[in-house]
Formats: sequence, C-alpha cells, structure tokens
Amino acid sequence: MRILMVGGGGREHALLWKLAQSARRPELFCAPGNAGTAELAENCNVAAGDIAGLVALAAARDVDLTIVGPELPLTAGIVDAFAATGRRIFGPSRRAAELEGSKAFMKTLLARLGVPTAAHRTFDDHAAARRYLDEIGAPVVLKADGLAAGKGVLVCDDLAAARAGLDEIMVRRAFGAAGARVVIEEFLPGEELSFMALTDGTTVVPLASSQDHKRVGDGDTGPNTGGMGAYSPAPVLTPTLEAEVMETIVHPVVAGLAAAGIVYRGVLYAGLMVVDGRPRVLEFNVRFGDPECQVLMMRLRSDLVDLVEGAVTGGLAGCRPAWDPRPAAGVVLAAEGYPGEPVTGDVISGAVGRAASTERALFHAGTARRGAAVVTRGGRVLTACALGADLAGAIANAYEVVASVGFRGMHYRRDIGHRALARAQSPPAAREGE
Ligand code: AMP
Ligand code: GLY
Repeated sequence: MRILMVGGGGREHALLWKLAQSARRPELFCAPGNAGTAELAENCNVAAGDIAGLVALAAARDVDLTIVGPELPLTAGIVDAFAATGRRIFGPSRRAAELEGSKAFMKTLLARLGVPTAAHRTFDDHAAARRYLDEIGAPVVLKADGLAAGKGVLVCDDLAAARAGLDEIMVRRAFGAAGARVVIEEFLPGEELSFMALTDGTTVVPLASSQDHKRVGDGDTGPNTGGMGAYSPAPVLTPTLEAEVMETIVHPVVAGLAAAGIVYRGVLYAGLMVVDGRPRVLEFNVRFGDPECQVLMMRLRSDLVDLVEGAVTGGLAGCRPAWDPRPAAGVVLAAEGYPGEPVTGDVISGAVGRAASTERALFHAGTARRGAAVVTRGGRVLTACALGADLAGAIANAYEVVASVGFRGMHYRRDIGHRALARAQSPPAAREGE
C-alpha cells in the first residue's frame, strides 16, 4: 500500500511515524515534508498548496491513499480534485472545509443549529466595527475572517488594545487578506480543550482529548501562536462532558452539514472553551491540531491506516480507537521571531536525526537538510514528545528530549501542562486507557 502525506509540519511527521508502525507496512511519501519525514518517507518536492501538482504526484507514484495534514489544501479543494480522479483521500471537501476557512460560515451554521458558541458580529467596514467595539467594550476578541495560521486572533483586555487590534487587522492587514472582514466576539472565560473526532460523514468516533497552549509565553502571556505545546489526556474532559460535546456540538454539526448536502469526512477538531462546566465552541479546524496530533500519535495504539481507511470508505461504525493509558506531553521548540517572522537557516545540534523510540520522539516541523546538517526553516521547528507514568512524568521526559537539542535563538515554553498539573488530584477520564 502506498500512502502520500501532504504537508511538512510536526503533525505530518507524527502521522508518518505512526503510519510507519502499521502492520500494513505502507510505503510512504510526503509532500513537501521536512528533514524528519525524510527518515520515514520519500520527500517529494511539491508544495502542500499545489493541488494540480499533488494530483499529478499521486498519479505518478500510483498512491492508494492520500492524507492531508494542513488546512490550506483542504480549503483550496484538494479532496474534490482527488475525488474527480477517483483517488482515495482523507479529509473534508472544499465546502466542508469552510468550517475552518471562514469563521463567518462557521458562526452562521452554529447559530442555525443552536450549537453553543460565543456571541459575535461580523464586519466588512472598519468604521462600523469600531463603533460596535466602543459600544460593547472589553474584554473582547477580534478574529480575522480567514486562514491566518492560527495567528489571526487577538484577545484584547481593554478598549484601547481592541481599537489598536482592529487597526492592525483591518487597516494594516497584519494577517493579510484575511483581515478584510473581522469577527468581533464575546470573550469567554474558562479552560480550553481540543476535541478531535474522526468521521466518515455518518459515524463519528471521538479521539483522545488534549490541550494546547496557544500563547507564546509562560503563564499564557504574549501573542497567540499555532500552538506551543500540548498534552493528552486533558483532565478537564470528563466522560460526562465528552458525552455533552458529542451530543450538543459534534453530532449536530456533522448531521447539519449532511442535511445541507455537505458530507464531512476526515478529522473534525473542535476548539472548545469550558465555561462553568459547559462546552462552547471557539473554532473548528478541519484537520488534526498541531501540536495536539503529536501527543495523540504517541498514545494511539490502534493501527492508524485502519482508522484513516475507515473514515475514507464509510467504515467507522463500531470502530473504537485504543489509547495508551499513559499521558503524553509535547513541547514546541520555536525559532527566534516566532510567532512573527522567524529567523531561519540556523544549524540544529544534538540528537536531531536519531531514530525515535515509541516512548520519546522528536518530531520535525520547520527543518531542512543542508549537507550533513539539519537547519531551521520555519517558526515552529521541532516538537519534543514523550509518554510518562503520569502527566508530571510525561512532562519531565518531554523536557529531557528538549535538552537533547539546540539551535541559536531557540525558545519554548517551560510550563507545558501547568493547568492539568494544578488539578492533578482529579481522576483521569475513565474512557481512556481501555
Ligand atoms: P481560535 O483560532 O478562534 O481558536 O482563537 C485562538 C485562541 O484565542 C483560542 O485558542 C483562545 O485561546 C483564544 N480565544 C478565541 N476566541 C475566544 C473567546 N471568544 N474567548 C476567549 N478566548 C478566545
Ligand atoms: N494547535 C491548534 C491548531 O492546530 O489549530
């Protein structure tokens, strides 16, 4: 079996790492990949956004199954393009991917289905947006309506910051064209949770819970990033809460899309805020989270090829993925400048090329080979991951992996898992580890 992975981040490296452990022994390709994926797959020099190039690549390599990592090709219609050629691909169609591609689309759908989310209004006009801000005051959240690599969101504590943020998004276009339209949203206080599920369009199978760390700095300070670290499971997700999330959020969305003629296949990721014990939607992603995927792959015991095939072929009924009961933690190592413009080209020293064990792994993201060396090539460079007997152990082990590598300007959070550690006396979610 020949499998093509589209993308070149830590998420894609982790997925390939898991695919490489499959009993099906697939032959692996990655486009475009990174220095880490090259150890597991044949890297092919086609960009993740080059749909025509990827269709041609899949044909040239006679690929049986393609798995799409990032959102960009999904919102650009890669699944529709593959379907037109009859090649199997894992991910939602262009229309289904609007759930992530357009916050306005997502908010309208949730309102129609009565799915709990933050109150919001959408503006194309700067003056009108400014008047609304003055009216509702702070704290408030501003979101550029479109893809901005997880960075197009400003959480503003006071009105002055909100006004400045609005100018950043709509006038200075800090997040590019996504800033032509802005969503102004009620601030939700609470604990965040990443909830991912696999679906074939009908059956929805929850995956293990995880929690991301969006802010760049320790103690959740500084600007938002694509994610600076993660752990799984997230103790905030009790079995009762999981049932509520499935019943009031995930099932209605998959069924609501189906009723509108949009079949959602692939991973559905709900970014949730737990407010007074009740889940509310912050965002949807139409793919695995990064770095949440890395910690999930550390814990997944089921064969990933079977799960992905089930989603693609409508065969998820009765499927129940098995998880390692041990928690996993992942720490993102970022380049100087990230989440702004990162410095690239620095040599990474240490255990960067060493084969990973199944208990500790260093997943590559923005890395490239330069002769014998591995150098930085993006904002998020590596994710250091580990399992542990308990969460504190997993975190300690992950930081040992961190200590095994280095590069000029490397920065990372030192408090991954702080919320879960603070509530360490809580029992783990009963569903997991069976
Ligand atoms: P999003 O890309 O919409 O998930 O936003 C990125 C991050 O901003 C989230 O992970 C939250 O940390 C924060 N955020 C977004 N929307 C809200 C909200 N309505 N209330 C509080 N925090 C939010
Ligand atoms: N870590 C959040 C995301 O992948 O969007």
